[in-house]
Amino acid sequence: MPDPADAAGWVRPGLSGALAGGVCREILLAPHPLLRALSQPAGYLSAPGLQRLAADLLATMYAAGGRGLAAPQIGELRRVFVMDAGWKAGRPDPQVMLDPDILTRSDEVETRDEACLSIPGQPVAVARPVGITLAWYDLEGLHHQRVLSGGEARIAQHEIDHLDGRLILDHLP
Ligand code: NI
Repeated sequence: MPDPADAAGWVRPGLSGALAGGVCREILLAPHPLLRALSQPAGYLSAPGLQRLAADLLATMYAAGGRGLAAPQIGELRRVFVMDAGWKAGRPDPQVMLDPDILTRSDEVETRDEACLSIPGQPVAVARPVGITLAWYDLEGLHHQRVLSGGEARIAQHEIDHLDGRLILDHLP
């Protein structure tokens, strides 16, 4: 999920450890059929494979000026996405979510324009719960659970839609 503004001028955060050394990959554009496929559990990949995938997703997301990117957008049908809700505001916070699962959704819903790196230049107004409880695994295999709100909640829901083959185009009236 990119910001509508031009990517030039934002400082990409330096990444270390398992997240360093990612390669910039081609982002598939709609209507590519892989964007409509159901992704398989991340657990099927080896640990080094997952680290490479996560590093590539982050490198590709930052280069494209996005705040979230899901594995199927680079042609890998795995339940993996990355996000960084704060880097454009100077608060980098790279996150890698494996096998994410939305446990609860707030009753309160908000409609906002969302962009997508696979659908450049076509933001769509999407209504989503403003808060979710998200569970996921990290690259070490540790399980996490956290309440997300605001931009983080929206990005996570957008990226999880990608893992299920859903696009913002599905929200067009
Ligand atoms: Ni997207």
